[in-house]
Amino acid sequence: MNTPLHTGAPAIEAHGLVKHFGSTKAVDGVDLVVPTGSVYGVLGPNGAGKTTTVRMLATLLKPDAGQAKVFGYDVATDSVAVRSMVGVTGQYASVDEDLSATENLIVFSRLLGKSRRESRIRSTELLEEFGLTEASKRPLKEFSGGMRRRLDLAASLIATPPLLFLDEPTTGLDPRTRSQMWDTIRQLVAGGSTVLLTTQYLDEADQLADRIAVIDHGRVIADGTADELKNSVGSSTLQLTPADRSLAPAAAAIVERVLSEPATLSPEAGRITAPMLRPDLLPDVLIALREHGIAIEAMNVQKPSLDEVFLTITGKPADANAQDPSAQEHAA
Ligand SMILES: Nc1ncnc2c1ncn2[C@@H]1O[C@H](COP(=O)(O)OP(=O)(O)O)[C@@H](O)[C@H]1O
Ligand SMILES: [Mg+2]
Repeated sequence: MNTPLHTGAPAIEAHGLVKHFGSTKAVDGVDLVVPTGSVYGVLGPNGAGKTTTVRMLATLLKPDAGQAKVFGYDVATDSVAVRSMVGVTGQYASVDEDLSATENLIVFSRLLGKSRRESRIRSTELLEEFGLTEASKRPLKEFSGGMRRRLDLAASLIATPPLLFLDEPTTGLDPRTRSQMWDTIRQLVAGGSTVLLTTQYLDEADQLADRIAVIDHGRVIADGTADELKNSVGSSTLQLTPADRSLAPAAAAIVERVLSEPATLSPEAGRITAPMLRPDLLPDVLIALREHGIAIEAMNVQKPSLDEVFLTITGKPADANAQDPSAQEHAA
């Protein structure tokens, strides 16, 4: 399977993708451009249309309208070429519960046309990479949810496709397995793969994704780098604490004067907080404070978090639907 990559074509280019199920507008006109060699995050709450979008891009579901190309190949008219270049997690459904993890991976690899020897070597490598070596001989029916998730990702990597769709790879995983998964995703991209990652978790998108599309009710409502999204809502915040707490009111007055913004003072902590619309004014604040003999104990400039971004653009908190990963399965 050596479908030539169209040089210069983005990994994914989708315009106006639509999929309705009866009266449910699962995907309602999605545009996406995913550059090669990056992690692209599709961030949205449960039911936003993430899985349906992924299934259309991976040729598993026919769009009702719109167009999508993967490395320049049309998902509708060149689906065979597209399929040879993508891997999808969650695809590994036809597993045999009575076979061991190793046997399942080998069967899967043989189905992809690899030799017996090649299949055995790759399966052993992948099981080791995903910390499943010890469990490799156990039948799948004894696997926990976290172990299944890792085996699923391992299976999708047998063919090392140039584009990998990871549909909520860490939902419901305990924090340790989750950070292992993050490391694996980073390694994949370092090795030249392009990853489209869907997630309900803001911190995951923030940590992993080079670019993020925020999706809600089947539509992309914002996109850009994490920094661009953060900059699009409100300003950074300056926090500053004078070494001598009794000077806090005087320091607050200076901050207000230099920034021309209202400063708030928390009297107990002696901490001053003010919006920082122009970060280039920071040195002026520091100089003015020194001129007045006010020493600083602590200071930081905080960008708005992705949580605030989500709240601003969707009007509801990001965790309204998302589960708390720390409250999940710990068996893995
Ligand atoms: N096969 C289907 N039949 C009917 N409705 C569906 C089907 N798949 C998804 N939906 C609906 O489409 C919407 C988007 O679903 P989905 O793409 O799975 O969202 P997400 O992956 O973001 O949670 C939801 O309202 C869901 O209930
Ligand atoms: Mg989904």
